[in-house]
This record gives sequence, structure tokens and C-alpha cells, in this order.
Amino acid sequence: MKAGFISLGLIGGSLAMAIREKYPDARLVAYNRSREPLIQALKDGIIDAATFEIDETFRDCDYIFLCAPVQTNISFIPRLIPYLSDSTVLTDVGSTKANIHKAVAKIIPGAHFIGGHPMAGKEKSSYFNASSGLLKNCYYYLTPSDGASSEDIKRMEELIRSLDCNPIIVDPDKHDFIVGAISHVPHMAAYMLVKLVKDEDTTEEYMRVTAAGGFKDTTRVASSDPTMWTEICLANRDNMLKLMDGYISKLRDVRRLISKGDKDALHALFSEARDYRNSIINTVKIRRRSKGLTGRMQVPGDKSISHRAVMFGAIAEGITHISGFLNGADCISTINCFRAMGVNIEHDGGTKVTVHGVGLHGLKKPEGVLDCGNSGTTTRLISGILAGQDFASTVTGDASVRRRPMKRIMTPLKEMGADIASADGNDCAPLIIKPSSLHGISFKTEVASAQVKSAILLAGLYAGGETTVTEPARSRDYTELMLSAMGADIERDGLSVTLRPGNTLRAKDIMVPGDISSAAYFIGAALILKGSDLLIENTGINPTRAGIIEVFQRMGGDVSLENEKLTAGERVADIRVRSSLLHGTEISGDIIPTLIDELPLIAVVAAFAEGTTVIKDAAELKVKESDRIALVTKNLKAMGADIEATEDGFIINGEGSPRQLHGIAVDDCMDHRIAMSFAVAGLAADGDTEIIHPECVSISYPGFFKDLLTDN
Ligand code: S3P
Repeated sequence: MKAGFISLGLIGGSLAMAIREKYPDARLVAYNRSREPLIQALKDGIIDAATFEIDETFRDCDYIFLCAPVQTNISFIPRLIPYLSDSTVLTDVGSTKANIHKAVAKIIPGAHFIGGHPMAGKEKSSYFNASSGLLKNCYYYLTPSDGASSEDIKRMEELIRSLDCNPIIVDPDKHDFIVGAISHVPHMAAYMLVKLVKDEDTTEEYMRVTAAGGFKDTTRVASSDPTMWTEICLANRDNMLKLMDGYISKLRDVRRLISKGDKDALHALFSEARDYRNSIINTVKIRRRSKGLTGRMQVPGDKSISHRAVMFGAIAEGITHISGFLNGADCISTINCFRAMGVNIEHDGGTKVTVHGVGLHGLKKPEGVLDCGNSGTTTRLISGILAGQDFASTVTGDASVRRRPMKRIMTPLKEMGADIASADGNDCAPLIIKPSSLHGISFKTEVASAQVKSAILLAGLYAGGETTVTEPARSRDYTELMLSAMGADIERDGLSVTLRPGNTLRAKDIMVPGDISSAAYFIGAALILKGSDLLIENTGINPTRAGIIEVFQRMGGDVSLENEKLTAGERVADIRVRSSLLHGTEISGDIIPTLIDELPLIAVVAAFAEGTTVIKDAAELKVKESDRIALVTKNLKAMGADIEATEDGFIINGEGSPRQLHGIAVDDCMDHRIAMSFAVAGLAADGDTEIIHPECVSISYPGFFKDLLTDN
């Protein structure tokens, strides 16, 4: 790889260092106005060549990073033209994007330009404050131009991810408004607070001398580079003016409350702001826990059932009352998608949802794209339904969803006659689905995936003739059970499920039991923490989901089911779990689909067991919300565990008695299951374990940290 840097300051330098660390053989070249950074970077072995001109040095780069202040970056673009090839991705690291996009479009129409903005930094500029770790775990905005091909975007995303950053793709205008609010206006607030204190201070300078804590924290960024911030303000003028008006009016609000002496209103206002801040900024630190987990608890509703209750309720006739609904971000995405198609869905903001079904043919064309957020289940299942509609639609999601393989549903849906295509031609979302007439098929899936099976069966509701799906192993069967309970003609025979269209779906009230995937973290934690005796009540134990119970029992875990019953057609039980001395086992074959989401947790628990655990036949883990084989291995290794990644799983040599895992800052890649699994590891590891993106647990378990860390 060859990468060029125009200007080697704090961000350019940190990026070059991170690339050098990851790609020791890469050729890195840099231009800078002043000599010192270049000389130092050459000495450090960070760059291979330095120049004071934009010249031949930049020919044939795979990437060129514009790392000067925003306006200055633009001035370099014409000078780079002779050295850009078709395979050069031109990018920048500037804090505003709309202006550079405009400039690039004018100067080099069709350029392979992808705006970039790592959301990291510090108030000190220059190469001499740069470090390879500065960008670690940061969000990295990417704003592809029309000239950037999907291959360019993929390459860029992969590069960014390989540097341990989290790429997020957005539109340049949207980017500028977002960072206006979370970065640009806060800088203005900081500069002006400092100015206030400067102007108001007395001749004794008490303010200057005693300024500490709050003042320092709030104004840290007022030490930032004035040149850079002058440029940013001018480049993002309109957004900043609008947001500053908003900020001024908020200051006026609080001023009014203070002047009125409205204690309650002030308290409420501060609480609201504090809670929001805590929910977005805090990382969570987990300490070793000396006591076991005891008492009784319940986990939130099952994610798979909650999705289906909304979706099938929407296309049923009548009203579906859902109780125990999982109020997590994924299921909210499902609600939003169906609302966008004209379905009236009431949600009390908690566990109660009422869906006013519109019948199989009552959905309306959505105005915009259907955004499935982080939810693979929404994306795949909804595509099956959309394939049968008489309107065109586009389905997309966040960066994680847009990386996940969709060919697995596109192939069978196309075979049924669906007109479904990947917008970027990479077999990933966004998916464009146009009206067509469907016919039933008999399809053998390559992977045991409930999402694939469900997408096909849902399209089958709209097809002429019957549809049969045969899986290599049985995946979770909620779709079959719920559709059948709602009146669909559906039949199971071994590993095959057949649906005969023609019946209308009738609304049915649904009581969602606790999600066994969420219970799993507490089962795992209770097993490895001495002195545990925990009862997790009302948890779904559908045999196509509950493989984890069998596996933990096989490992010597004291896990048992109490109070087993059928609730609204689903098997539920209270799960009793007590601390146990665990030993290794092999997990492979047909049991894998029944515990696929629990495998990261099982790997963590295996690291605390005696002996070797082998997990096989789980290559699917690579295409979940993150590459879970890579992430589990990386984090467990960093904690000191003996784990090896294989093509389709892991080999974990349990810690046994002498070795003790130690806490780390967990690279969770915003994957909820990784964050929760490693929070469990943190309870039994020495020192602090820090979950960097704790907010990601809200995908499937919004109150997770409260439940895990609050003593009962
Ligand atoms: C799900 C099926 C599983 C699972 C996901 C939810 C579902 O995915 O990993 O969290 O609700 O159908 P696959 O079906 O792709 O294995």
C-alpha cells in the first residue's frame, strides 16, 4: 500500500503512525510546509519519503489524505491532479465536508473522493503531539462522493476499520450539521467562556489563578488551534449560525428559570441534560466482583419474537397487542419501518405495543428509504415482505448492516421472481426491491439461518403456489410458529418448512418471554463467579434457541429449569444457575444455530473453565454485527487468555488455576453481544475492564449495565 499525507500535523501524523503500525511494509510519503515534522517522521520511521512540494512523490498512491486545515486542503486539490490515478482514493480529515465536496466536484469532476473525518483529537496540534493510539476506537465519518465507486468505499472502510476506528457513512451536509452540534458549537462555547472570564476578571486575577475543575473541563478545547477554528467556522457557517441560535435560546431558557427562581424546573432541566450526557458519553468500567450473583431477575423480551410480532401483526387483519416487547433499538427500527408503510403502531415507550394490522395487501409505499438501523433481522425479513408488494422500496441500515451478506436472501427471492438488487452491486444493502409477481419454490439454504428461512416464507405469503425451505440444520422456528398461530397454512417436516399461500393472517395477542440470549450473560456470570445462586424468571426456552443450557450443563455448569410452562405457544421457564467449576467441551454441528448469538459469551466463559473448549461450524460468526471470531479472539487474547481463532470458530485453552485474566479497554466495535460478553469477563478479571461503547447494548438489552452492576 502507498499512502500520501498532505500536511503532517496532529491528525495526519496520528493516522500515519496508525497505518505504519498496522502495515509495516506500506510506503508512506508526506508533504508539510515546515521541515521539523517531516524530519522527525523520517527519523521515527513513520514515513519513507518527505517533500516540500506537491510532486512526483505522490504519484500512484492508493490513498492521499488531505490533513491541512479545511480551506487549505482545498487549495492543494488542483496541484494533486497530475498524480492521481484511477486507483487513488482522495480523502481528507477535515471537520467540514460540504465545502470540500463542492470544491472537488468543481476541480476534478468524477474524482474518487471520499471525505473523511475521524472524531478524535486533542487541543494540542502538530505532529509532535500525534500518537498511533489517538484515533483508536473513534468514530470515523466517511462521506463518499459520486465519483467514488463501491469498491473505493469498501477499501476505505476496510482501511479505517483495520486501524481500529469505526467508520460511519453519511451525506456531507448531514455530517456538517451533526459535527456543528457536537463539535463546532461546543468549541465556540468554550472560547467564549474563556473570554468571559478574561474580561470579567478583576485586577487581582482571582479567576485566572483559581480556575480549576469545571472551568478547565468545560474549556479544554479553547486551547485549540485558532487558524483551524477560524477556517471551520467559515466553512460551516450556516449550520453553526443555526445551532448557535439554538444554543443561545437554551441559555436564555435557563437564564429565565434562574431569574424566576424556578427550582423544580431547573432541577428537571439539569436532570434531563445529565441523563442524556451520561447515556452518550460514559464508557463503563467493570471491576472484579468478589461476590456471586444472587436473587431473582427477569431479562427483557425476546428480540426475535418482538420483531416478528410487529411485522406479522402489521400484515395481519385486526389488532395485535404485544406485551413484554423488547424496547431495544433493533425492534424500534422494525416499528419505524412499518410505520413508514402506513401501519398505525402504538408503543407506550416500554414493553407494550399495539399494532393495527393492515392485512397482507394494505402496506403503503414508504416516502423514503426504509432504515433498518443495526438490525439484520429487520433487513432480511422485511425484504421478503417487500418482494411481494406492488410498490418499489429501498431497504438499508447502518454501516454494520450494509456490510452484511444479503445474497443469501437475494438468490432465493430472485428465484421466486422477485426484482431485488443491491444498489452498490456488492450483494449488500441498500437493497432496491421492485414490484413483480412471485411464485413458490423449493429451496435448500446453504446456512441454517432463521432470517433467510423467514425472508423466503414471508415472500411465500405473496407467491403463487407453495414454498418450501429446507435447512442444513434447524434454525429458530418463531416465524413458523407465529405465522401458523395467525392462521397461515404452514407445515414442518424434518428440516423442511412448507407454506401454502391463500390464508389471510389474523391478529393474535402476543406475550413475549424473556430473551435467552440476554439471560445468557447472567447465566455465564453466575457460573464463573463464586457464591452465585441466581434465578432468571420467565425466559424463553424454545428448543431451537436454548442450546446454551445444554452446553453449560455439559461443561459441568449447575444450570436447571424450574416452573416450565407453555405461554402463548412458547416454552418458558425460570432458569436457576449456581456457581460451578467448569471444564472444556466441543461445540459443533446442529447445536450451533441454537446458540449462535451466545457463542461470544460461551468463549468468554470457556476461558475461565479448566481444559480445552473447541467451537466449530460457526463461520457465521464472521458475518454478524461484527466479525465475532476476530473480535472475541482479539479481546480475550488481550486479557491474557489462550485462544486461537480458526476458520469456523475458536480453540480456547481455559485458564485453569494459575493464570488470571486481566482487564482491558474492550474493542467492542459497537457490537452489543461483544460488549456484554466482555462485561461478564470483566467481572471475573483483575483490574478494570472498560467497555468503550456501552450504549451499543441498547440494541438488544437497554438496561444491561444497570442489571449487571446493581446489587440485588
Ligand atoms: C435471528 C436469527 C439469527 C440471529 C439473530 C436473530 C432472527 O440470525 O443471529 O440475532 O430473529 O431470525 P441468522 O438467522 O442469520 O443466523
